[in-house]
Amino acid sequence: MTRTPWWRDAVVYEVYVRSFADSDGDGDGDLRGVRSRLGYLRDLGVDALWLTPFYRSPLADGGYDVADYRAVDPRFGSLDDFDALVADAHAHGLRLMVDIVPNHTSDRHPWFREALAAPPGSPERERYVFRRGAGDAPPTDWPSAFGGPAWTRLPDGDWYLHLYAPEQPDLNWRDPRVRAEFEDILRFWLDRGVDGFRIDVAAGLFKDPEFADLGDRGRHSPGSPIYSRPEVHGVYRDWRRLLDSYDGDRMAIGEVWSDDTANLARYLRPDELHQVFQFHLQLAPWSADRFRAVVDETIEAVAPTGAAPTWVLSSHDVVRHVTRYGLPGGPPGIGAARARAALLFLLALPGSAYLYQGEELGLPEVMDIPGEARRDPIWTRSGGTALGRDGCRVPLPWSGTAAPFGFGPPATNPWLPMPDAWRHYTAEAQETDPDSMLTFYRRALAQRRALPPDLPGTVEWPDAPQGSLLLRRGPLTCAVNFGDRPIPLPPGRPLLTSATLDGTLLPGSSAAWLTTT
Ligand code: NOJ
Repeated sequence: MTRTPWWRDAVVYEVYVRSFADSDGDGDGDLRGVRSRLGYLRDLGVDALWLTPFYRSPLADGGYDVADYRAVDPRFGSLDDFDALVADAHAHGLRLMVDIVPNHTSDRHPWFREALAAPPGSPERERYVFRRGAGDAPPTDWPSAFGGPAWTRLPDGDWYLHLYAPEQPDLNWRDPRVRAEFEDILRFWLDRGVDGFRIDVAAGLFKDPEFADLGDRGRHSPGSPIYSRPEVHGVYRDWRRLLDSYDGDRMAIGEVWSDDTANLARYLRPDELHQVFQFHLQLAPWSADRFRAVVDETIEAVAPTGAAPTWVLSSHDVVRHVTRYGLPGGPPGIGAARARAALLFLLALPGSAYLYQGEELGLPEVMDIPGEARRDPIWTRSGGTALGRDGCRVPLPWSGTAAPFGFGPPATNPWLPMPDAWRHYTAEAQETDPDSMLTFYRRALAQRRALPPDLPGTVEWPDAPQGSLLLRRGPLTCAVNFGDRPIPLPPGRPLLTSATLDGTLLPGSSAAWLTTT
């Protein structure tokens, strides 16, 4: 009998460390805060946690600008706190994944400081991507993902590449020192007991050696000079060998954006990454046709590799889905109703599901953060024309009726302001309410655990009324009504519904799980 590794069908909960729980009242969440809430996460029913970067960092991009890959930033705690967290998470039956940021460092990383102090053409500069421009023009037309050009010029005439903020210089993965360093960093955290890695900007490490212009192509399009260059796969083959040399199913999931679903499969070849994020569901509007198409495309692309798909509705990079699914001026609560239905859809799919902290509380995006309180470089680099991602990163409300809502001790001033309306969303307020989002998430996750372990890895789509879907995996059927009029329930015994049934009818914006066993 083959044993299924844990990650193939795990439900992973993304902890945005800075916004999860603040143990010392400095306004930033921390590792001790995470540790203090492990019971909550176990009771929620997830299998694993993914911690966003907590390494030493000036936080120019919320920690995705790492100055020391082997140290915990003092705002987030210490290595001792990390070790205690790993041990405690495991004692709670939870796996622990950490983020690894190999595409770029912080501009405060010692390597970049050395590079700046050294002359053009020096070995110190070789670890990054320094080029001469053409006169006053940057070496290529590549844009930064955060707005503006991806190149910054130094007084000595060299330009350096940063696909993100200027405080995040891109590393040169053609330099063997970079490769060796990251293998060593992986070992450092594997030796401390982590179960897996989420690889930031996994498709970005190698750039076109000719530095061709992007022109009018999309950054993530096939043949882009910036992402998914063939050389990147060699790195993941090496990392796979490294992970496999440890006991206990250590894994890696790549953050790979690609316009081409088939490209994702290249990262999933059996000697490469265990998983890649498939963001297409997250990008899909609330539509039966789109949801179905995304699932079919993803399963079809992943199937030949033997890997399992991954699904995600929200993260620290996108508008929260309760808000995305809402209708401006539409009936109140529709976004939350659809989010409940979407959860049943997500959890019925084969493969693993990644949840984002706060979705279990039904948190909406905070749209009205004052400009001076915003921290996302997208906001500043766009001169305030793009709101950026702070609205989904507001700290979690745990208890009480006034800010900081138990996020930290009473006098805490959270790093982003928390809206007064969040008194209705606290975990405490939802804890004992049988109709709350939190209770619904707990029920759904418990029900998923109770499903037969051998459900097929494929899905079927029996005929369904217009604007609805029936997704079938063996004895499990998930019915989703994307419209607003009730539809008849398919045959089977209801296991769980996202809204109260109307006799034998499934109301609009809701979903049900049924079993035919
Ligand atoms: C993806 C991360 O999820 C995002 O938050 C970050 O800004 C970029 N990578 C750059 O590291």
